[in-house]
Amino acid sequence: MPKYVVATVDEIPPGQRKIITVERRSIGLFNVNGDFYAIRNQCPHEGGPLCEGVLSGLVRSEMPGEYEYVRRGEIVRCPWHQWEFDVRTGQSWFDPAKTRVRAYETTVETTTSLATSDADLVDAGYTKGPYEAETYRVEVDQQYIVLHL
Ligand code: FES
Repeated sequence: MPKYVVATVDEIPPGQRKIITVERRSIGLFNVNGDFYAIRNQCPHEGGPLCEGVLSGLVRSEMPGEYEYVRRGEIVRCPWHQWEFDVRTGQSWFDPAKTRVRAYETTVETTTSLATSDADLVDAGYTKGPYEAETYRVEVDQQYIVLHL
């Protein structure tokens, strides 16, 4: 499964999103209370830019006159005809058996975990050469969002 570093954690605060293009696919990357989710930016209805829509939640009611607003910021509403989808799973809630948008796995990784090791290079068919240049330690204090296609 190919992995792509698509943003830093700092770029997308909670409640915000970033729309990216990876392998010619437009994808919306959402921060929901510190967790990151990615769904295709193409509505399954008529292809609208789903991830540009309003983020909302759901209303739950136990009895008339009482209601509770739940899952705030987890539901995106397509700007073209207002169909709604769960940004965590891509699932629609008006016809859940048939309609969903493609969802992708995301992880948050550090600079260290993203580094390619010597063993990775050997596995990829590279051979170590006889020379070694002088190197210096460099640190980046940053976490990255990685998209798994
Ligand atoms: S294109 Fe998204 S609801 Fe119609």
